[in-house]
Amino acid sequence: MRHALLIAGCLAALIAQPAQAQPAAGAQEARVSAQRGKLLYETHCISCHSSQVHWRDQRLARDWTGLQAQVARWQGNAGLNWGAEDIVEVSRYLNRRYYRFAVAEPRKS
Ligand code: HEC
Repeated sequence: MRHALLIAGCLAALIAQPAQAQPAAGAQEARVSAQRGKLLYETHCISCHSSQVHWRDQRLARDWTGLQAQVARWQGNAGLNWGAEDIVEVSRYLNRRYYRFAVAEPRKS
């Protein structure tokens, strides 16, 4: 009986969650997508990286394009099948945090 109650509690929590997880529209979009890059990176990538990977002398990423190429390579290695947007979000996150390359933003039309 206790188990049944526990399970019911968990289900209720699960059902309640998506409503809160909805990203706010408009002005908060940038912040939400910044968090997305961080979240993706922390979920899938950080397990075998320390931040040292990103500031070692021999680092492979030398500019914004190179950084995106490395992120694309690694998500491929990990079999994640990320879309272009996810690759950009994670690259942006890493760039803000470590690299600070000049970013060539895609043109918005
Ligand atoms: C299996 C362990 C592992 C996982 C998982 C992993 N990485 Fe790496 N990553 C490494 C190692 C080791 C290096 C350094 C050697 C190299 O670049 O081949 C590296 C290098 C990098 C670099 C280049 C750093 C530089 O400037 O030289 C980037 C960017 C990067 N990883 C991004 C990611 C991203 C994004 C993910 C998640 C999709 C990820 N990695 C997942 C181990 C890992």
